[in-house]
Amino acid sequence: MEIYRGLNKYKFRILVVLLLTFGNALGELFLPKLMSLVIDKGVAYGDTQYILRVGLLMIVVVILTVTCRASAAYHSSKTTMAFSRDLRYKLFKKINYLSFDDVEHFSISSLITRTTDDVNQVEQMVLMALRPLIRGPLMFIGGLIMALSTNLKLSVILPITIPFIAVGLYIILKMGLPYFPILQKRLDKINELFRRRLTGLRVIRAFSRDDLEEEIFDNANEKYREMATKVNKLLINMRPLLTIILNLALVLVMYFGAKLIDIRELGVGELMAYIQYITQVLTAMIMMSFLLNLIPRTLASMDRISEVLDYNRTKTGGKEKLNDEIYEIRGENISFGYPDAHRKVLNNISFDVKKGETLGIIGGTGSGKTTLLRLILQFYEPGYGELFVNGKDIRNINNYYMREEISYVPQDLFFFSKSIRNNMKYAKKDASDSEINKSLDYAKTRDFLGEDALCDNMTRGGVNFSGGQRQRLSIARALTRDASVYIFDDSFSALDYKTDYELRMSLKDFISNKIVIIVAQRVATILNADKILVLEDGEVAGYGTHEDLMKNNEVYREIAISQGQDYEE
Ligand SMILES: Nc1ncnc2c1ncn2[C@@H]1O[C@H](COP(=O)(O)OP(=O)(O)O)[C@@H](O)[C@H]1O
Ligand SMILES: [Mg+2]
Repeated sequence: MEIYRGLNKYKFRILVVLLLTFGNALGELFLPKLMSLVIDKGVAYGDTQYILRVGLLMIVVVILTVTCRASAAYHSSKTTMAFSRDLRYKLFKKINYLSFDDVEHFSISSLITRTTDDVNQVEQMVLMALRPLIRGPLMFIGGLIMALSTNLKLSVILPITIPFIAVGLYIILKMGLPYFPILQKRLDKINELFRRRLTGLRVIRAFSRDDLEEEIFDNANEKYREMATKVNKLLINMRPLLTIILNLALVLVMYFGAKLIDIRELGVGELMAYIQYITQVLTAMIMMSFLLNLIPRTLASMDRISEVLDYNRTKTGGKEKLNDEIYEIRGENISFGYPDAHRKVLNNISFDVKKGETLGIIGGTGSGKTTLLRLILQFYEPGYGELFVNGKDIRNINNYYMREEISYVPQDLFFFSKSIRNNMKYAKKDASDSEINKSLDYAKTRDFLGEDALCDNMTRGGVNFSGGQRQRLSIARALTRDASVYIFDDSFSALDYKTDYELRMSLKDFISNKIVIIVAQRVATILNADKILVLEDGEVAGYGTHEDLMKNNEVYREIAISQGQDYEE
């Protein structure tokens, strides 16, 4: 799994942390022993020399222990932060290359939670647990050995107390385990609702459904609280319970220890050391159980991260290069259905468009126009039939080479909240100002943009422009790119007839030697196309020039007449 492979890089640093922690534990185990010597051999006999010598040794041990501890903490934080940085980067990279279906498979908000919350969870766990996970078992076993070697008789207390704590811990863990994945899912839900609320703001407001949204959110929020409370209750109850057991154990130790001192089988110093050892053993147990408690939670997060990192993303395209610009796109009996739906969206579509030609696609909403474009853009692969680009099967052509040759105006307009210049440069990284200005001219943006508008900002993705203005800006962006295929998906719909006409006339010069595909709902927009593909419910209802179709095609004629014009030019 990718997530563990990420740790590989830090093998050496982790080893250093392990060694330092080991040193730290040894020191802590050694100190009570030294103290008992000071009391039983030094204080008891008034041997000042001895006290000074062992005291000095204790200071050295303390300094070493503290140094080990501090550097272990330092290195483990450093490693953890580097690890989680890598993890976020890997996630981002992976998500960057997911196909549209893959993103829908996870849902956007879940992908966000996974990159932020889940990574934090793992980060916290590694940060908190890296040292205690080693220290815990070491202190547990070391403490036991030291306790046993200090006094065997007193150690009958151990088999009495340890099982108590173990059983208590087991029950608590068993109860807590199933809650953690649920907790995370409910958090996802809250994120999802937030996103919906914010992206759907206008619709929600327009229909005054704020109260409905509030109710739904309230519900999800309450469910999360409920689960989180359950989990925390469990964790909180655990603490006093364990403290009580720990203190009872200490009472027992002191009681029996006092008796042993009475019959001179135990020194006072030894009893003091013993109390420290048994405290170390029991706190190590408690500490480990807290960590164990975190582990399922972390594992749930790690699973969710791994699901993304190890996801077998849907690949489109193959390895072949396009050695030339695109000079022909030809579809032969293409059929296609979206992965999750059983219904076919495209059925038996054939068309052909060559360099210098314009293909118009017309049809009602939902007839499959956008879907056909998505196949050409390699967002999806055709289910049946063939789509040839320069005579090559599109399934074999590499994404990169394909998309380099295409400039696309999507139906849903999207801009970045940057200057117009930067938005235009998205189509061509090194576009000069004069190039950008040229495409802004071609796209007829000047009636709302001044001559030097390049620095103007597109606030929040372009809300400061109207629908028709954004369409023209989106067209300008597409024109900024040097491509051999220009695709316009319903990019003229929000323009008035006059602007639509002017824009088409202006585009004529620009794209004379390219392949142009224009999707439109208005006959006027594609009137002059070399070929027009009429789609109806995913099937070809007509294919030919405007004149042919007007003469011979019922569907097309109806569309034209319904738009109230008799297009005889
Ligand atoms: N991502 C998708 N997943 C599933 N079905 C989709 C998806 N996108 C579009 N569809 C369906 O495919 C059909 C054609 O849609 P589309 O190509 O967008 O039509 P058009 O662009 O002609 O309006 C519609 O019935 C729509 O519901
Ligand atoms: Mg569409």
